Amino acid sequence: MQNILVTGGTGYIGSHTVVDLIDQGYHPVIVDNQSNSSLDVLRGIMEITGREMSCLSVDICDKAALTEVFQSHDIDGVIHFAAYKSVNESVHEPLKYFHNNLTGLITLLDVMKSEGVNHLIFSSSCSVYGNVKTLPVTEKTPFAEAESPYGRTKQIGERLIEDYGKAHPDFRGINLRYFNPAGAHESNAIGELSLNPPTNLVPVITETAIGKRPGMTVFGNDYDTVDGSCVRDYIHVMDLAAAHTQALSSLDRLDTDNNVEVYNVGIGQGVSVLQAITAFEKVSGKQLNYAIGDRRAGDVVAVYADTNKVMSDLNWQPSRNIEDIMSTAWDWELKRSKQ
Ligand code: NAD
Ligand code: WQD
Repeated sequence: MQNILVTGGTGYIGSHTVVDLIDQGYHPVIVDNQSNSSLDVLRGIMEITGREMSCLSVDICDKAALTEVFQSHDIDGVIHFAAYKSVNESVHEPLKYFHNNLTGLITLLDVMKSEGVNHLIFSSSCSVYGNVKTLPVTEKTPFAEAESPYGRTKQIGERLIEDYGKAHPDFRGINLRYFNPAGAHESNAIGELSLNPPTNLVPVITETAIGKRPGMTVFGNDYDTVDGSCVRDYIHVMDLAAAHTQALSSLDRLDTDNNVEVYNVGIGQGVSVLQAITAFEKVSGKQLNYAIGDRRAGDVVAVYADTNKVMSDLNWQPSRNIEDIMSTAWDWELKRSKQ
């Protein structure tokens, strides 16, 4: 398996995964419609890998254009990142999310079927678990009611892939449930560069420290956690990227009734918002201007992964911690501020 179609490959996680794929000897073929990314990232990929990469500007909901990509590139497998990802926007524009995230996936499976491509890695999310009651979260933890239309598109996406796998014996699929991806490539050549203003904790911290924001709010310090702030499982984007490459290489040994496997991808440790801020202040030497504010509606109190399954089945383990996340994210912010 050599030629890997990477949908959403100029996006944040996609671009870092493209680098890891190239390092591991694969030939990524990127499609992206630039709805939340820019072609500038291709220069960074080239800087790191020495490989000239191009992006096919295709919307994955366009079946004819996607079919043309498969036919002209001899695709062996697919990593499917392309989707919209703003939880808040999805609450206000559910149709936009159901259309792009689910029509996109259905169109992709449809084309894979007609072109005889049977290997798929799908970007799922810890948001499929909803508001969890028991920690750590294992892959057997049942889906609770999704907190947003975005989360629901990931729940439905996973079910769709499972049903497809049941009906197609040659198919092999893996759903990777990411916890909280953050950080940037250590070279500082690529990082998070979304077109929409970030709302996730780590870019909000770095943007505050650089002065793009006057200050930031910690959403609540009266939860039942180590220091009262919410707890998450932050995973470095390059560790997450490596999980995709490992997942690809494991597809042929996959052995389940429905031909689909699912893995949590986190580091398996909870970090509170205040601990994350402390880690940032330590690695950057900056004092962050933050205030404690009200709880954010819809926030889960604490969530972190049980990672035993991904570590043993995929022979994968994370090698970076919250300080590595903060220092690479900060270097990336500093670099962009000079451009
Ligand atoms: P991103 O927005 O940076 O990347 C997604 C890319 O897909 C963008 O470049 C966008 O232009 C492209 N895209 C969107 N719709 C498309 C379409 N119809 N056709 C072609 N390209 C399209 O997001 P990301 O953070 O890299 O996330 C990648 C995947 O991982 C998404 O499926 C997201 O839901 C999932 N995920 C992300 C996180 C996170 O916190 N970043 C957590 C869990 C899961
Ligand atoms: C992390 C913590 C906030 C900003 C989201 C999606 C989830 C997945 C990952 C895609 C929370 C706190 C944040 C701020 C803060 N994405 N915070 N002040 O909410 O865990 O998950 O991204 O699949 O589906 O819901 O991530 O980075 O927004 O928040 O105090 O300005 O930081 O309350 O506790 P979240 P996040």
